[in-house]
Amino acid sequence: MPGREMLSEKKPSRNLAIELARVTEAAALSAARFMGRDDKEGADQASVDAMRMMLNTVDMNGVVIIGEGEKDEAPMLYNGELLGTGILPDMDIAVDPIDGTTPLAKGRDNSIATVALAPRGTMFDPGPFVYMDKIAVGPLCRGVIDIEKPVAENLQAIAKAQGKRQEDITVVMLDRPRNQDLMDQARACGARIRLITDGDVAGALMTAWPDSGIDVLLGIGGTPEGVLAACAIRAMGGEIQGKLFARNDEELKRGQEMGYNFEQVLTMDDLVSSDDVFFAATGITDGELLDGVKYQPHGARTDSLVVRGLTGTVRQIRAVHSFEKLEKVSGIQY
Ligand code: FBP
Repeated sequence: MPGREMLSEKKPSRNLAIELARVTEAAALSAARFMGRDDKEGADQASVDAMRMMLNTVDMNGVVIIGEGEKDEAPMLYNGELLGTGILPDMDIAVDPIDGTTPLAKGRDNSIATVALAPRGTMFDPGPFVYMDKIAVGPLCRGVIDIEKPVAENLQAIAKAQGKRQEDITVVMLDRPRNQDLMDQARACGARIRLITDGDVAGALMTAWPDSGIDVLLGIGGTPEGVLAACAIRAMGGEIQGKLFARNDEELKRGQEMGYNFEQVLTMDDLVSSDDVFFAATGITDGELLDGVKYQPHGARTDSLVVRGLTGTVRQIRAVHSFEKLEKVSGIQY
């Protein structure tokens, strides 16, 4: 092209994250009908069905590594389930059709539908172990955190990397008794804490999102959510570390017999070892990052975030859906 130098002859390759937006939109639209209806199972079933149907339209040979449901025996996409049209590329899949089932059932904020893909064999398989201690930060703080260090040292390092005072740092954390010690440590440092009732995938995402006002995620949450968050954080240039957390001696023993090491720090590379990762999330109920599904005459509006690790491109997609037209072409009843 005259006057413009091409960097190389390489053409941009396919961005699966764009296709994932359709997957999380469908799951969110299906789940949103259940807001405040106190029917977690119904909501899970609707979002799982929609997610399965849409993932099966994606040209890939996918296998579910991170499914959902073991913790509460909810309807789920099964670990090992094959999804996609079956043609290359071979991918690992992590899903959470509803992260925040309780807030959705109670009509509260911060529930999202989310999914991630990475090349086959690159996602951490946590087996049946449901909890993980986590620390996650955005790009400015990559390389300065260490989950094994006291909270004070991490907050100091984060404040320095961001050019802020320690008391200006805002921590996001699940409000659970098991996080009390970390909470006390963060309070002793003078940090501000945003306690969330649920949804630590969104919590982790906030750390990598400019203007969210959140600097770090700390605390023990779900393991599947940790791997999903790792895909998003890796793609967005931040850092996450984790450590499996055993609820009791029995679980610890079982893990050890299965070859899991609960003392091991799971680095971002351990959690997802490729940069060629894709992530999408759509708001179901309103949250700080994403608006929930908003019903309009004849349809609804969704708000999604899609990220591709190879390029680091983060897209916000606001879509307007027409139920009448959709129901003619899709098997999903919105
Ligand atoms: P689900 O809605 O998928 O059940 O997860 C909600 C959630 O808050 C996650 O974001 C978090 O990682 C996990 O539950 C924490 O588990 P628990 O509620 O058992 O403390």
